[in-house]
Amino acid sequence: MQQRKIMIVFGTRPEAIKMAPVVAELCKHPTEFSSCVVVTAQHRSMLDQVLEIFQITPDYDLNIMRPRQSLAAVTVRALSGLDRVMRREKPDLVLVQGDTTTSFVGALAAFYRKIPVGHVEAGLRTHDKYNPFPEEINRCLVDTFADLCFAPTLTSRDALLAGGTPESRVFVTGNTVIDALNEVVLKARGFSLPALRQLQFGPPRETLLVTAHRRESFGPPMVAICKAMRELLATRRNLQVVFPVHLNPNVRIAVSSILGDLDRACLTEPLDYLDFVQLMQSVDLILTDSGGVQEEAPALGKPVLVCRETTERPEAVAAGTSRLIGTDSSNIVSAVSLLLDDRAEYARMAHAENPYGDGRASERVVECVRHFLGLAPARPAPFQTGLGPVAPALVELMPVLPTNGSNGSNGANGHKSALSKNRSGLQSKPTFGPLSR
Ligand code: UD1
Ligand code: UDP
Repeated sequence: MQQRKIMIVFGTRPEAIKMAPVVAELCKHPTEFSSCVVVTAQHRSMLDQVLEIFQITPDYDLNIMRPRQSLAAVTVRALSGLDRVMRREKPDLVLVQGDTTTSFVGALAAFYRKIPVGHVEAGLRTHDKYNPFPEEINRCLVDTFADLCFAPTLTSRDALLAGGTPESRVFVTGNTVIDALNEVVLKARGFSLPALRQLQFGPPRETLLVTAHRRESFGPPMVAICKAMRELLATRRNLQVVFPVHLNPNVRIAVSSILGDLDRACLTEPLDYLDFVQLMQSVDLILTDSGGVQEEAPALGKPVLVCRETTERPEAVAAGTSRLIGTDSSNIVSAVSLLLDDRAEYARMAHAENPYGDGRASERVVECVRHFLGLAPARPAPFQTGLGPVAPALVELMPVLPTNGSNGSNGANGHKSALSKNRSGLQSKPTFGPLSR
């Protein structure tokens, strides 16, 4: 049988995390597919962290990242690089993920060469052109180019159909981030970063994990988020804030200037995915503007406060595990305080829900690709949103998790017994020190 060549294009940390399970799944069909992994490296070190964890060696690395790059510059460098690679490799299908510049340009480059496109995580919408910017328009454009739209949920499928995408192109697969999360939960090995190993989790300590990086958050919203953290730290003596700081200078300057001098604000470099997942499991509460974190936290039973004005991920809000609170400083202080002070309110949000996937999304993506290329007679059955409360790998772990943490000496605190039995023997990665001030 002649192998079909599938080109997988990605460039940033979240795309890499969500495409890693797809790459692994394609490798399970060596007689049918040869895969060609192309990274634009729109992100450099944050991408490399993920490549190392999932042991992916790209076939092409365009290495386009520059400090403080503009959208236009990323677009131009990615387009010319991807066009060269596509001209040379002539893939049968190109797969892109999400709504970054790399995904948009990957789909555009394939379209220019009349190569079919599959879009992993299709159909997410806020219907607000500038929010998130430029991601809302990027994903609309990718869905326009796509021959295969892999919608993670029924909500995203409905958005595609409402926007005129023919039903024959749309498949509900679940989100591949849950596949990645499952894999990483099983690999967990205690924190590799010394700064995290020194932290204590569990009562009386209260721990808030914060991430923020979106363009809409730059400037006053970022300042408001940080000021809210400052106020909370001043009034709650048992609170600690852990903030892995994105490498974007717009984030770093604001965060380190407002929070850099506070003892109980633990500012770190971007964490590798293993550390980050264990951190999510260890904290009490998460405040974020991240898309991926909004999807992962509900599967881990962690309440999420979303510091944005709108979200394209309404499923967790509907399930009651996340809440959209905007970026007003006093609202953030109130929302965090409410959850930390009111146990009933906390319990209402802290149940494990998993509207985003069942750990088999990449399997469905690859089955759809097989069907599209005439290698399978039928499409797979769709992901049924709401099936199973948590990711399958976590079901096994959750009953043995203590409700109160002990001390943090063994990393993902309070989870030591559950996680240590799943050690994979993975080597500890080099660690980053605390954020330089
Ligand atoms: C991009 C995506 C956004 C996604 C985010 C994930 C677009 C338009 N936006 O935004 O959807 O949520 O990635 O994090 O594609 N930098 C480094 N090293 C790195 C990564 C970034 O130094 O490994 C710094 C560089 O100065 C770079 C800047 O961060 O210029 C911004 O990176 P860029 O990819 O342009 O935008 P993000 O804000 O990261
Ligand atoms: N993440 C990580 N290390 C960190 C922060 C986040 O590995 O220090 C992971 C997180 O678990 C999620 C993804 O990165 O899977 C989200 O990336 P980001 O927030 O940068 O982008 P978005 O999802 O908003 O596009």
